[in-house]
Amino acid sequence: MKNMMGLSIKTEQGQLSILDQTLLPHQQRWLHCQQVEQMVTMIQQLQVRGAPAIGIAASLLLAYRAEQGDSRAQLLHSAEVLRASRPTAVNLMNNLDAMVAALQQSDYVSAAVACAEQLFAEDVQLCLQMAEHGAALVQPGERLLTHCNTGGLATAGVGTALGVVRLAHQQGKQIQLWVDETRPLLQGGRLTAWECQQLGIPYQLICDNMAAMLMARGEVDRIFVGSDRIAANGDFANKVGTYNLAVLAHYHQIPFYVVAPHTTVDPSCSDGSQIPIEQRPAAEVRGVRGSFGQVCWAPEQAPVFNPAFDVTPAKLVTGWVLDSGVFDQVAVAAGALTRLAVSA
Ligand code: MRU
Repeated sequence: MKNMMGLSIKTEQGQLSILDQTLLPHQQRWLHCQQVEQMVTMIQQLQVRGAPAIGIAASLLLAYRAEQGDSRAQLLHSAEVLRASRPTAVNLMNNLDAMVAALQQSDYVSAAVACAEQLFAEDVQLCLQMAEHGAALVQPGERLLTHCNTGGLATAGVGTALGVVRLAHQQGKQIQLWVDETRPLLQGGRLTAWECQQLGIPYQLICDNMAAMLMARGEVDRIFVGSDRIAANGDFANKVGTYNLAVLAHYHQIPFYVVAPHTTVDPSCSDGSQIPIEQRPAAEVRGVRGSFGQVCWAPEQAPVFNPAFDVTPAKLVTGWVLDSGVFDQVAVAAGALTRLAVSA
């Protein structure tokens, strides 16, 4: 496998390494990943996270196992184990489908390696294309708002929604970014804030429940979020709290965009009700875990509801920013997303 370098995933001298995102921003520790079970744990614990990143990491691990001499039957079994690691981000399923197809070829080791390398390179390219389309929407001086982490940590490239913000900043548009901290796991507070700091993007961190007040005061001009799965009708799943933002944006008449590569579109889901939503451990809501350890502030046995994602209905979306362009309500209602996924 050739050397490839992302912000959170890298391959070097045939080894796959993952930047442990649970330790950010206070520690930057790269972990070698060599076993399927190890990758499943890393995905489930969000050491590697973000829809495109988990698909690419799982594919690279399969390619690594192929190079280590696993048989085709073992690799096909491993693909199914990896597929079951998290249910919502369809990029994982789409990338593993591509890997399974590569494993059918006679020289399945070379085919698997080439496929995983291609998925990495493709994601870098798709991120750049989304950034171009999204940044073109941003007007000078705008105050943008985003949720969760959708940057280099969540993809192989510059990111989805945060990639748009990054390019608008690099284009000298003098933007400012409100970063939702994103309870319960604080991907905004820990990861997006860290990326903005590295990139020199002017940002302010807010608790999720402050967005309404900012919108009412006229301090949010445009919202960009990512997605883990987009249904054929344009409904989409993203980090829990995205739906709140969409409702607020609608009420305050603020443009609200979802930014995702075509690998996030799932035409087999006709609408958002068909998107499987991951439920996560109660401890994440009862307290918080970080590089400092686990803190529990709720009663230890407090009953908890902890969906990782929510679904935003298409009618609340101003535009779908994909690698091939920006689609509006009319285009999506006419089946643009389905055609895109089919032609990809
Ligand atoms: O649970 P996570 O941290 O993997 O959730 C990530 C998100 O919800 C992102 O917004 C989504 O994957 C798009 S990232 C490019």
